[in-house]
Amino acid sequence: MSKIEFKPTDNKVGCFIYTNLKNVKKDQINEIKKLLNKYGVLFFKNQNLNPEEYINFSSNFGNPAKYPMLKPHKDFKDIYVIERKKTDTGKSFGEGPHTDSSYLESPPRFTFLQAIEVPEEGKGNTLFYNQFLAYEALSEEIKQKIENLKGIFSSQGKIAQTRKLRMADHGTSETKEIKSEHKLVQSIDGRKTIYCSPGHVVGIVNLSSEQEELISFLSSHQINKNFSYSFGWKKGDIALWSNRSMLHAATAFNGDRKMFRITVQ
Ligand SMILES: [Fe+2]
Repeated sequence: MSKIEFKPTDNKVGCFIYTNLKNVKKDQINEIKKLLNKYGVLFFKNQNLNPEEYINFSSNFGNPAKYPMLKPHKDFKDIYVIERKKTDTGKSFGEGPHTDSSYLESPPRFTFLQAIEVPEEGKGNTLFYNQFLAYEALSEEIKQKIENLKGIFSSQGKIAQTRKLRMADHGTSETKEIKSEHKLVQSIDGRKTIYCSPGHVVGIVNLSSEQEELISFLSSHQINKNFSYSFGWKKGDIALWSNRSMLHAATAFNGDRKMFRITVQ
């Protein structure tokens, strides 16, 4: 059995994996899956996989999911290009805490992001917020309160405004609102997480009078610095996260940056 080398971040928000993904073995993939379930986000430094190798690696984790808002890469239909130019103004794509496509009935379980071109170090980081830790830190009273509640998730939530620039040049004709309801508490390998995407949640089912207060409380609790980690990209790096146990957010920056995104179901 070929074990993999790994090291969790100091605050256990994610985990670095030191294995060359070009030659990754089946038993190593199984180890990676366990670590992904445990830590929520994995960071693979300096991998430099070509698109075929990248797609091949992602296929170990599920079937490719279609992103309704953008057209895929012209040669690789499973890859979506997230690009920002030095001359672009306005918010970065995905700026603001969210979990990917949570307005869909079956949101993608995992997201992969690969750095193709990055601005200077310290710019264009991605923030991750571990929702296992966020759930554990809730009071018993709030845990009980949200246990059976469902959130209303909308494609027109707060994060929609950060999509405009990308949609102007790569967008599909998808303009109508997509909405779904999901349980605010989800479970992975027996551990509970808060599933409430601040970028998409617009209400809570059957809780009209208190919903705003609860959403606002959860939204600020979920991104407490104790559960957060800022990942700095270098060309060739890959991050892989579970959309049910992590929130993430792009940060504001000016510069040229190009990322390849794959989501799987
Ligand atoms: Fe995202």
